[in-house]
Amino acid sequence: MSRFWSPVVHSLSPYVPGEQPKQDGIVKLNTNENPYPPSPRVLAAIASATDRLRLYPDPRASRLREAIAARYQVAPDEVFVGNGSDEVLAHTFQALLQHDAPLLFPDITYSFYPVYCGLYRVRYQEVPLDAAMRVQIADYRRPCSAILLPNPNAPTGIALPRDAIEALLAEHPDQLVVIDEAYVDFGAESAVSLVARHDNLLVVQTFSKSRALAGLRVGFAIGQRPLIEALERVKDSFNSYPLDCLAIAGAVAAIEDDAWFRETRQHIIASRESLVAALSELGFEVLPSLANFVFARHRSRSGAELAAGLRQREVLVRHFQKPRIADYLRITVGTEEQCGRLIAAVRNMI
Ligand SMILES: Cc1ncc(COP(=O)(O)O)c(C=O)c1O
Repeated sequence: MSRFWSPVVHSLSPYVPGEQPKQDGIVKLNTNENPYPPSPRVLAAIASATDRLRLYPDPRASRLREAIAARYQVAPDEVFVGNGSDEVLAHTFQALLQHDAPLLFPDITYSFYPVYCGLYRVRYQEVPLDAAMRVQIADYRRPCSAILLPNPNAPTGIALPRDAIEALLAEHPDQLVVIDEAYVDFGAESAVSLVARHDNLLVVQTFSKSRALAGLRVGFAIGQRPLIEALERVKDSFNSYPLDCLAIAGAVAAIEDDAWFRETRQHIIASRESLVAALSELGFEVLPSLANFVFARHRSRSGAELAAGLRQREVLVRHFQKPRIADYLRITVGTEEQCGRLIAAVRNMI
């Protein structure tokens, strides 16, 4: 604390990201990264972009917006790009979610949302997931200015079908609905195809998970033009160049290498299914995940005990000491080998 702090800084409760260990040999299943490398075409594109480091990057990242637009069959001016989807979400909070009525999001969800509410002074209400940890769209029938849902939800991994999102949009024509699709590529249905019909929908996605580029920091939003314009206005009042020229080149190559994307995603989905089976056999209840992680609790061991025991065995998973979920572990789906080491470590403990 210091007398130089702006008043708002005193009241912030910053987000705590998952640990990035320094030592080698750790099985790192705690931050939902992709266990496979990005496409070799990404690495080649980044290498050739180094020629342009002397220059400022394109502030509009037009090549990337065009590549994303072509991939998702929208217009380039319906795409906004930012430095990771966290930044896209932050701009969304500032540009579109500061209203008198509260923003609604689930009680168990991505823990950055309340942090942004603190930073941008957004009023919010948490809507409890049902007893099976599912989002029930009927529970969102209450006064609000906007609704924010990750789909699949994090950390549960449970997804809503596109029909349910469309019903939510239809029930709330005068409220913005933001769908955070950070994990959608691992088996859930994207809401992007609903953007043309719904002016109240903003879909946010990331290159960090299914495209294995968490370190490059690229995220994007797709929505009708007036929503994108609001994000651009905030971005151009904050940082004209959120994506550097290496990130733009790498992300374009990642979007263009669809074969790599499909193949690595398929491996992860297959590993998820074997991981669920192995955990269930060891006495875990595993929520039905369509993400690149599973959320599971053991019938007789506490979450804290399991997380600590795994750490001793050099396996990192994520544990949240929070009401309703303190007994769960969030386990990123790794390679077959990493999942095997996790299962061996659990077997050794129970
Ligand atoms: C639900 C959700 N949304 C957004 C993000 C942010 O991802 P990034 O900033 O890497 O794009 C994450 C990261 O874990 C997440 O879990």
